[in-house]
Amino acid sequence: MFDWLKFDEEKLKEQRRQIDSLQKRLADAISAQETIREKPVYVLPTEEEIQEFSRIPIPKQGRDAIEVEEELMKYVFSKQALIQHPRFFSFVCSAISPYSLAGAILTDLYNPNAGSFNLSPCGGIIEEKMCAWMASFAGYPEDTCSGVFLSGGSISTMSAIIVARTNKLGEYGMPKGVAYLSDQAHSSVKKALRMLGFRHDQIVILPSDDEFKMNVKALEEAIIKDKNEGKIPFLVVGTLGTTNTGTIDPLSEIGDIAQKYNLWFHVDGAYGGSSLISPIYRNYSKGIEKSDSLTWDTHKWLMQTYSCSALLVKNKQTLLDAFVEHPEYLEDISSSDHLDGWDKGPEMSRPNRAIKLWFTVQATGTQLLEELIEYSFYNAKMVERELAQKENWEIISKPSCGTINFRYAPKGLSLEETNKLNLDITKELNDTGYAYIVTTTLHDMKTIRMCMINANSTVEDIMSTIEQLDKIAKKLTKEISNN
Ligand SMILES: Cc1ncc(COP(=O)(O)O)c(C=O)c1O
Repeated sequence: MFDWLKFDEEKLKEQRRQIDSLQKRLADAISAQETIREKPVYVLPTEEEIQEFSRIPIPKQGRDAIEVEEELMKYVFSKQALIQHPRFFSFVCSAISPYSLAGAILTDLYNPNAGSFNLSPCGGIIEEKMCAWMASFAGYPEDTCSGVFLSGGSISTMSAIIVARTNKLGEYGMPKGVAYLSDQAHSSVKKALRMLGFRHDQIVILPSDDEFKMNVKALEEAIIKDKNEGKIPFLVVGTLGTTNTGTIDPLSEIGDIAQKYNLWFHVDGAYGGSSLISPIYRNYSKGIEKSDSLTWDTHKWLMQTYSCSALLVKNKQTLLDAFVEHPEYLEDISSSDHLDGWDKGPEMSRPNRAIKLWFTVQATGTQLLEELIEYSFYNAKMVERELAQKENWEIISKPSCGTINFRYAPKGLSLEETNKLNLDITKELNDTGYAYIVTTTLHDMKTIRMCMINANSTVEDIMSTIEQLDKIAKKLTKEISNN
């Protein structure tokens, strides 16, 4: 009989050696966090290294595991963006909680299958409790709400759209269904609609207002027009914390319109959902209780390792309507008292992603998490104040959810020249390895976007980055005027 653990004494010895090596690796990685600030934010492999690594063949016979591990360290893990670096201000990335890491390692070690409640009952309780805790911030009633942990915001929102389609369009309404989102909605929303088979003309993208919020007047007008043409408006997606600017859409007004015209109201809080934890900033999302579903990524602001996103719904039956199937081979193991993971979403075999979040919330306590959220809002406001005192800097989007957009705009330059200047400023900063920032485009302007949701970013990290930007901006402007 083939027994993986015993089939080869040598392999067994090698496995022990590898576990020792991994333990050391883990200790090194954890202590490296203490000196992370001294490291460059982004180190890429050279072209030569990429070629070298690409030449490693898939072997017929296994080879030394330590050697494989060392190769992974050399080519993969030591040559990547340090997205948890305190001066990585791009995308929507934060520090990783050591408790999330501990929870993730334990989960991988014991590898529970979270498809069915009965395969790991207390694991199931953890997922239920984390969903209920998060749903409570959205004001979803405790006795009807439910949720499921999925791989990321993109898949959570796609699953929400499946729920919306099932509940509002039924089996035959899809060809006439219309979904509404703003031009600041994350690309994953449109992508999900297209993946689900909606045509481009079934996706209405509404221009956002001057503050990058959904224009509710335009939303209502579009719904009325489509209804008059015999279409079926079925879904509106509002955003709690847009990727570009951290803006929160007017959720209460959107909720009213959704109710008036019988649309499913989904909130994409992949990024900003975590702001609901703070009693101060929860107020910015008034009306969220009118929504039917909410995406909330804890691998963004709540310090979780990838991937840990929750899809929360107000009414658990809506999830079941969309996802339940009853194959004969699952009958024995299905739960009657609790919902099974495979009935709440598209996945069957699935990891229990809620365990690491549970570990973090238990070990950290909610108060520190509230403070983390408030710290991020504060940091973005601090940058706004700092830039207001410096010459030629313009704020393009007000600070929200720890994000702010600004640009360097000295007089006398055209839009094109100013855009290029701002791209060059960030590129030069990024090339130093000191910090990492990407630009975005708002109202045709290239803007420098700083997202400050890393719990380890100090005031000094942020202020010194602004100083560097200012120095580079002045130098490049001087070069332009000298040419
Ligand atoms: C607002 C928003 N929605 C959705 C997503 C997609 O999430 P994920 O990358 O976890 O799929 C992002 C990612 O940054 C986001 O900011």
